[in-house]
Amino acid sequence: MQIIQTVREMQHWSEDRRLERKTVAFVPTMGFLHEGHLSLVREAKNRGDVVVVSIFVNPMQFNQSSDFDKYPRNEAQDERALKELDTDVLFMPPPAEIYPDGYQSAVEVEQVSQPLCGAFRPGHFRGVATVVAKLFNMVKPHCALFGEKDFQQCVVIKRMVRDLNFDIDIVSLPTVREDDGLAMSSRNARLSAAERETSLCVSRALTAAQELVSGGQTSAAVILQSVQQILTQNAEVRVEYASLCHPETLEEVELISGPTLLAIAVWVGEVRLIDNCVLH
Ligand code: PAF
Repeated sequence: MQIIQTVREMQHWSEDRRLERKTVAFVPTMGFLHEGHLSLVREAKNRGDVVVVSIFVNPMQFNQSSDFDKYPRNEAQDERALKELDTDVLFMPPPAEIYPDGYQSAVEVEQVSQPLCGAFRPGHFRGVATVVAKLFNMVKPHCALFGEKDFQQCVVIKRMVRDLNFDIDIVSLPTVREDDGLAMSSRNARLSAAERETSLCVSRALTAAQELVSGGQTSAAVILQSVQQILTQNAEVRVEYASLCHPETLEEVELISGPTLLAIAVWVGEVRLIDNCVLH
């Protein structure tokens, strides 16, 4: 596995692979890799002749610098995991490569960045869209893979790619869960044993909502009431939002009349967790 740290070298490497008529598959990450990321890398290997994984903890997408500082990092472990999967390139640019002195541009994906996490993390999706657009210009992939745990992020990136004519296939893959249902996330490492147990209310709420819909319930208000009740059984949980919305426009719905996104964000102690499912 080759480790590349500069934009210039990354662009040259990808141009050379393209001249060899190889397809480049790309998995952008912020590191502290777990099975969710590794499943994206495995799928990238099926879809591309060569695979690039980036690790860059992007300061522009953290609306609180304390959250950025606390974001877990373990480069040595990440490197080992990616080597084992035969990743071709690990792109690990230092911050000054991505945001050099004088940097002042941004990508804004307007409507779909507003609700859900966008309403509680001002500037977050501006930071995500900007860094992903920049990484696309550095890695020049044919396809890029993202996890659906960050469902709104997938919607924002798909919209950006369409709007700005990036010639890149965006592939989103289902959330990978622990055996007990907890969605895998780098932030789970910050949960105490008791908080981790408490966090299971989120996947329980998603399952209960799916059961209601399977049983014929179509009222968003009724479903959300049941979700809120499950989430607030434990006083440790602070619900940021629970929303039923259209899976492409992210507009809230009152009636379930087709596939509908149930998206949840909660705080368990000091840790913010998000999860979602598309109800059918
Ligand atoms: O999902 C993430 O890890 C990040 O938001 C991403 C897409 C790598 C951009 O920094």
